[in-house]
Amino acid sequence: MAGATIEIENLTKDYPYGFLHLKKKRSLEGLTMQVEDGEVFGFLGPNGAGKSTTIKLLVGLIFPDAGTASILGKPITDIEMHRDIGYLPEQPYFYDYLTAAEVLDYFARFHDLTAADRSERVKRMLKKVGLETAGKIQLRKYSKGMLQRVGLAQAILHDPKVVILDEPMSGLDPIGRREVRDIILELKREGRTVLFSTHILSDAEMLCDRVGVIVGGKLRGVGAPGEIVGMKTQGMEILFELPASTATSTASANAAGILAKAAKTGDRYRLQVTEEELYAALEQLRSAGAKILSVTQVKATLEEYFMHLIEADRAQAAAVEVSGK
Ligand SMILES: Nc1ncnc2c1ncn2[C@@H]1O[C@H](COP(=O)(O)OP(=O)(O)O)[C@@H](O)[C@H]1O
Ligand SMILES: [Mg+2]
Repeated sequence: MAGATIEIENLTKDYPYGFLHLKKKRSLEGLTMQVEDGEVFGFLGPNGAGKSTTIKLLVGLIFPDAGTASILGKPITDIEMHRDIGYLPEQPYFYDYLTAAEVLDYFARFHDLTAADRSERVKRMLKKVGLETAGKIQLRKYSKGMLQRVGLAQAILHDPKVVILDEPMSGLDPIGRREVRDIILELKREGRTVLFSTHILSDAEMLCDRVGVIVGGKLRGVGAPGEIVGMKTQGMEILFELPASTATSTASANAAGILAKAAKTGDRYRLQVTEEELYAALEQLRSAGAKILSVTQVKATLEEYFMHLIEADRAQAAAVEVSGK
């Protein structure tokens, strides 16, 4: 069996705490998942869910209490693995008084490159992340978004096949987030596999082939963003207009019941009905002189799915606390 690009098997991490570090807190519990070749995989979860813990385990910064993982067929304990992976930490820090070109040249020295190769590569990477004109400016003058792009350039300096990014969009404004998204999409076009963590659902929804949702150290679901929230529709939404002249006519009196259920914004109304009620509702609206603008399926969003998981987790945590007394 050909393994996935990233194979994670039962990965578990406990952090010691308390007096003499005698107690242990489980931060990651039996994580098993795969990231396939060439996909953009979003690792989603609220703060404290275990995203950074997983990523630090994958890049060998910390060690698991149980379980194994491999990247491109090499176990994460194999130092060779790092040739093929790029990593952006959660809050990368660079010296203020260096320029982006200097920082990248420094990191390039960790890789097997000649001086000429290094300088060519630094230029290419600065261009790739849209910093070619800012390369000679000291980092203290950079915006948060620009710094994040320096971090991305650092992560991909050695042309890694797998790129692992911890919260690459956090703390960025919409423009900065868009720029990071575009860079991730370009990495995908180049055939790289990207695993990134985020707590920003809309970014994940826009970018990812698949997402994994982690809450309280446990994986709660994996799949395409559309698939994971379930294909079940929650009904149909009818958007329509009702000219003021007809709104008071006898025809619309017949539709009074249905109009009372609709939400009005300006001249437009939105009405949510079940699939079974749809045709009858459309018929009533037509006879009331309404102009139908659109009919769309109402689906659960990733956000609703996410909130549902978090609430379930809180309820469970509360139950444990109560029974623990
Ligand atoms: N070095 C550490 N020592 C003790 N606890 C930690 C350490 N790092 C993380 N934790 C705890 O582990 C849990 C998961 O943290 P983390 O992986 O950073 O979550 P996320 O990245 O999803 O926000 C949290 O409860 C956090 O407080
Ligand atoms: Mg984190």
